[in-house]
Amino acid sequence: MENYASSLSRLTGESTLLYQEIARNVERTKGIKTINFGIGQPDLPTPQRIKEEAKSALDKGFTAYTPALGIDELRSKIAEFLTQKYGDRISKEEVAVTPGAKTALFLAFLMYVNPGDEVILFDPSFYSYAEVINLLGGKPVYVPVNFDQNKGFYVDSNELLSKISQRTKMIVYNNPHNPTGMNFDSRLGKEIAEIARDRRLILLADEIYDYFVYDGEFRSVLQEPWRDNVIYINGFSKTFSMTGWRLGYIVARKEVINKVGILASNIYTCPTSFAQRGALASFDTFDEVKKMIDLFKRRRDAMYSELIKIKGIRAYKSSGAFYMFPDFSEVLKTAGLDSKGLAVKLIEDAGVVTIPGEVFPEKMGRNFLRLSFALDEEKIKEGISRMKTVLEKLAG
Ligand SMILES: Cc1ncc(COP(=O)(O)O)c(C=O)c1O
Repeated sequence: MENYASSLSRLTGESTLLYQEIARNVERTKGIKTINFGIGQPDLPTPQRIKEEAKSALDKGFTAYTPALGIDELRSKIAEFLTQKYGDRISKEEVAVTPGAKTALFLAFLMYVNPGDEVILFDPSFYSYAEVINLLGGKPVYVPVNFDQNKGFYVDSNELLSKISQRTKMIVYNNPHNPTGMNFDSRLGKEIAEIARDRRLILLADEIYDYFVYDGEFRSVLQEPWRDNVIYINGFSKTFSMTGWRLGYIVARKEVINKVGILASNIYTCPTSFAQRGALASFDTFDEVKKMIDLFKRRRDAMYSELIKIKGIRAYKSSGAFYMFPDFSEVLKTAGLDSKGLAVKLIEDAGVVTIPGEVFPEKMGRNFLRLSFALDEEKIKEGISRMKTVLEKLAG
């Protein structure tokens, strides 16, 4: 007899996958090739040097358990790299390698969120934050990400302050931001870090898209005084096209990292041995990363100039990550649809996959669709043009 833990009833999986499933059905039944704006990963292969290093590790038999916090060389390399980049001396003891940034996030929530604790999230946000907080009996409290056609997306720090209560434990700060594609204004980033420090809150910073910045300066939380209260999360998935390798990392003060080690040894023992060796070579591939970012910038520009040709939608050129998050309120109103209904209609009638803003909690995204530009420029143009035909028909 199955008898799952009751907290599991609060957990759901990645709903973005549902739309990929609908697309597969449409391809099968209608025989059309869909264009996929739903993807959350770079379409380029992992750089060759990284693959060679992992292969060589396998050939040399580097296949046993590693230390729970990751191999020393990789922890040191990450520490040195961040020290050089942000100017603060970070030590190997302040770094833990994890199986993906998602696991790192899960561990961070597990370490700090007790039943009844409140965690501040931006609305909309990456789906799994709220899922894990709820699983642990915590309560997500949302700060809206506002949208203005001229200003783009923005957060008001007074609104953030107004959400802090006696029960607030943590602020989750994802910069650049999924799903809006916003690179937070550096002054605001500084302010958020100060608020967390002053109010003695944990600042959980998810900077997985830190290389995907097209406009403005990127400011990391590691450029602020961070040791007291910051848990910094990053990973190899996006920057080096390594989503399937499952490698992320946490930077935090030593005591926190020691706790991560205890959790790791009880949950997954260690990150995959040869994947870690491969990741060592990633630090020599920044020339390729730079090329990818230049390519993504051109794709972003192409997507934006096509989107603004469509009547009834309000698009803002994103400054980070690889997502555009246009506002479809006018179309939705005229068509009498919600964002989920529109996403399904676009798959069925245009053969185009987008992700409805509703799947990013809590509710600010309900009039938006997320479009990833991690695909060929040709496909971007073709996909938006197909959307245009269907949307203009909907608008009458
Ligand atoms: C904001 C954000 N954080 C974390 C992750 C997970 O990254 P990883 O593949 O390292 O688990 C994603 C992946 O989509 C993401 O968008």
